[in-house]
Amino acid sequence: MLVWNEQFATGHKTLDKQHQVLFENVNRLESLLDQTNLNRQETEFILSLVNYLESYAQDHFKLEEQCMESYRCPAHQKNMDFHRQFLAAIVDYKKKFQASGFRAEVMRELHQFMQNWLQQHIMRIDVQLKPCISVPQSD
Ligand SMILES: [Fe+2]
Repeated sequence: MLVWNEQFATGHKTLDKQHQVLFENVNRLESLLDQTNLNRQETEFILSLVNYLESYAQDHFKLEEQCMESYRCPAHQKNMDFHRQFLAAIVDYKKKFQASGFRAEVMRELHQFMQNWLQQHIMRIDVQLKPCISVPQSD
């Protein structure tokens, strides 16, 4: 389970809020995975949640990249590369689902991937925005 704390703070209110929403939804996905024997409706809900997470992440990444660029954050390029890798991985998972259905172990793997990725990425890359925001900009 993902729990947001100050270690994840980027110093940007909207981005921090969006990270919290992402955490909540990844946790929501986790709570559904713990249920055994998902019915068709629940499986469809998981799929819509995954699609939602993907599009939310896309919008969030866009804003975050704009912020890093405008604050001249040194992690900007790396951040963009990681975002691209994340979205490519999600597309791969969706292809796996299309090819062999919603297998529980693949759903679990996807959840684990999202959880680990978000945690590591925010703590290592996104937080590099914080000192850039607190420094007065020259122009
Ligand atoms: Fe990021």
